[in-house]
Amino acid sequence: MKFTRTWCMPNSDTFSMLPVASIVKRYLEQSAVSVDPFARNKRWATHTNDLNPKTLAEHHMDAEHFLIMLASQGVKCDLAIIDPPYSPRQISECYKEAGITVGMKETQNAALYSRIKSALVPVLTDDAIVLSFGWNSSGMGLKHGFEQKEIHLFCHGGAHNDTICVIEQRKANQPNLFDL
Ligand SMILES: C[S@@+](CC[C@H](N)C(=O)[O-])C[C@H]1O[C@@H](n2cnc3c(N)ncnc32)[C@H](O)[C@@H]1O
Repeated sequence: MKFTRTWCMPNSDTFSMLPVASIVKRYLEQSAVSVDPFARNKRWATHTNDLNPKTLAEHHMDAEHFLIMLASQGVKCDLAIIDPPYSPRQISECYKEAGITVGMKETQNAALYSRIKSALVPVLTDDAIVLSFGWNSSGMGLKHGFEQKEIHLFCHGGAHNDTICVIEQRKANQPNLFDL
């Protein structure tokens, strides 16, 4: 497995950090149909979405509902880019910016990641690649039938958390353990 660590200035627009952009673009160049459910203003993928209506994404829905909509349209993507808010505090800020009032339940990041992973699997091809960004290296994981290919740490210095990018590929014929 490839593992790198690169220093770069932090930026809440994750793909505006040049070393991150170069990885995302490398995978986009090899992709025929891609999806980015948390795109903010980056319309790099084929299908883009962001909860916040002030962003430039194509759709403005909750990411889970967006993925369910794509699945109902029979969309199949060979690349998914998952760059959600990284903490409950960031989730609260995103909802506030989008003008949506929510309670504690909606701001739990574990719950958000779990429902996104489950909704993502049906819109992926059998050998799809998923790029996951955050403060952990969990990614889609074996239980969703994925194998890790690359991990990239972007170190921002001082007491900042690293931005972690996990790149995984869906293993053909690997059962999604949620289907068993
Ligand atoms: C880390 S930012 C994405 C940054 C983007 N990748 C970039 O490089 O500019 C996360 C985005 O997710 C959006 N978001 C937060 N909760 C969401 C949800 N439940 N469904 C869809 N989008 C959501 C936020 O509005 C925010 O723009």
